[in-house]
This record gives sequence, structure tokens and C-alpha cells, in this order.
Amino acid sequence: MSWEDKVRKVEPYVAGEQPKDRDVIKLNTNECPYPPAPGVIRAAEALKEHYGNLRLYPDMDATKLVNALADYYKVDPYQIFVGVGSDDVIAMCFMTFFQSGKKILFPDITYSFYDVWAELYGIPYEQPALKEDFSIDVRDYLPERTGGDLGGIIFPNPNAPTGVEMPIDQVERIIEANPDCVVIVDEAYVDFGGTSALPLLEKYDNLLVVQTFSKSRAMAGQRVGFAIGNKKIIDYLKDVKFSFNSYTMNLPAIELGTEAVTDAAYFHEITGKIIKTRECFKQDLRDLGFTFPDSKTNFVFAKPPKMSAKDLFMALRERKIFVRYFNKPRINEYLRITIGTDEQMAKVVAAMKEILG
Ligand SMILES: Cc1ncc(COP(=O)(O)O)c(C=O)c1O
Repeated sequence: MSWEDKVRKVEPYVAGEQPKDRDVIKLNTNECPYPPAPGVIRAAEALKEHYGNLRLYPDMDATKLVNALADYYKVDPYQIFVGVGSDDVIAMCFMTFFQSGKKILFPDITYSFYDVWAELYGIPYEQPALKEDFSIDVRDYLPERTGGDLGGIIFPNPNAPTGVEMPIDQVERIIEANPDCVVIVDEAYVDFGGTSALPLLEKYDNLLVVQTFSKSRAMAGQRVGFAIGNKKIIDYLKDVKFSFNSYTMNLPAIELGTEAVTDAAYFHEITGKIIKTRECFKQDLRDLGFTFPDSKTNFVFAKPPKMSAKDLFMALRERKIFVRYFNKPRINEYLRITIGTDEQMAKVVAAMKEILG
């Protein structure tokens, strides 16, 4: 047996392309087109004063950041878990809550990291199909259909890459009907007009809500994500995290993340602008003949008229406009287009007009 036979072999997650050329319109990974809050930039400059402290380990509880989040979301600090982007948080969740050996559920079309983590940790999973209109069929997650005995449930709300939101009463039905497993609601895109499940934490002890700084707080590069749940659920998560790597949150992430949460006015300003741009862009897409499910996110998942999604993807790319194309069954006729600034979207629409004739 060679050393290679002893290696764990996995198929990794494929992230959207990060072009080296900065001179592109980058609408392929749902980043924010605006800079982080002014306080974040000021804090980044002030970090120089802390450089001497880089010789020390950071605060492993990220107390400052956790307290800022607790203030903002009006929960207790012990209800919050922070991590290196929500990818890190969700990976920890898979390790913590989905270890019963029983199957977990998530939709067939969804964030494509979920099946990668399930494979990595050897968690059995099933992926109920979205309905034709790309909405989640809530009945697929209720005991009448599942038989009840689940290892866990996770779904983004709104879903990605479709942008479709599940009404909150349906989210509640899923949580309520599955009291014996943890239900994770991944709210990466909730700040663009969606309804958060956070208020449901008062009623259900099996709910965990995950959010990120990468989209609505314009901090994808800094890598900050968090989960909110009850104390017991968060404590279990912390036990696993502190068995894995205590110091995930570094000093800049704690300092800059805190500033991003503190400036609520800026947060509302940029998310409001993105929503407005999105609604205009939807109209432009309709005028061009695109079809798409209604989006409550910072992207639109649209099917082009006249030509294939793949050809349009390539033609846009030639014009230095990067959007996301998934060569997967059911969604290979769609492009996921992140909402940029008004100017960027005007250029996208102009390019589409030219390409589609
Ligand atoms: C649904 C969903 N969840 C989680 C993430 C992870 O985001 P991050 O690790 O940047 O917080 C993404 C990123 O695109 C996403 O689309």
C-alpha cells in the first residue's frame, strides 16, 4: 500500500473565479460593490497602533465583536458564535450537529458547499428537489414525507443561487415539525429585503441562524461570519471549535468586524442602494426578455432569451464582465448575476443588448 492509498480524497468546493485583472466588472461571487463602512477603514488605519500586539494571540472569544453583534441583534453575547466567514461557521455546524449518522436534508439546488462538507465528514444526506419555480417544497422537510428520523436540516433563506425566499411561516413549520434535530437557516442574503428567522429563537431551541459579513457588510476579504442560537446550542458549537482551532478570529477581523457592526446607518444605506439597483436591473432584464424567479438577494438568477446561458456567459466574459455560470442539471440555462453599482449594471445591460442583438 503506497502513502497515496492512505490519503483521504475529496472533491473540493469550486468557488467563483477571482480574476487577476482588476479592470473587470466582477459580478460572479456576490460581493458588495461598495467599500466597507468608513469606521472600518479608519480602524484599519489605526491597526498600525496594534501591530506590536500581533506578537500576542488574539482574544479567542472575540469579545469585542461578539458584544457588538449582541447589541445589534438584541441577544445575549453567549448566544453568538463567530468564525472565519460563514463557511467556517457552517463547517463547524456540520461537525457539531450533524453527527448522528442519520441523513440530513438540504435542497438539490442550493449553496454547493453543503454536499462538499457532508462528503468530507461522511454525513449521509438527501437533496429534495426544488419545485419547478425553484421554491422549496416545505412538505419535503416535514415528517409526513421524511418519516421524521432526521440528522439535521440546512437551507439558505433566501436560497442561493436562485435568490428565492421561503416565507417565514414555512420556515417556522420546518423548525417546529423537526424538534429532534437542529435546523440551520443560512441567512447569507437576508439583509437585502428578506425576513430573518431570528425572532423564532424565542420559540424553538433547535434553531440556529447563520449570517455573514461578506455580502451586506462589504467585508468578504476580511472573512467574518456568525451564528445566533440559544446558549446550549452555541456552547456545543464552541466546544467543537475549541477542539479544532481556538484562534480562528485574528486581531484585524475582531477590530474591523466590530466597526462594521457598529455603523448601522452605513449598513442600511448600502443595502438600500443595492435593493434599489436590483429592482431596476430586474426591469431591464424583463425588457430584454430574460426570465427569472423573484430575487430577495444581491443577485438575480436569470435565463437569457435567444441564446444559451453558457454562450452569454462567454460573451460577457470577453467584454470583461464576470457573472456566474453553473454547468449543472436544471440550472445550466441560468446565469447568476451579482448586483453591482448602477453604473456597472448599466454597462451589463448595454453589453447584453449588444450581444443579444
Ligand atoms: C448561501 C451561502 N452561505 C454561505 C456563504 C459563505 O459566505 P462567507 O464564507 O463568505 O461568509 C455563501 C457565499 O457565497 C453563500 O452563498
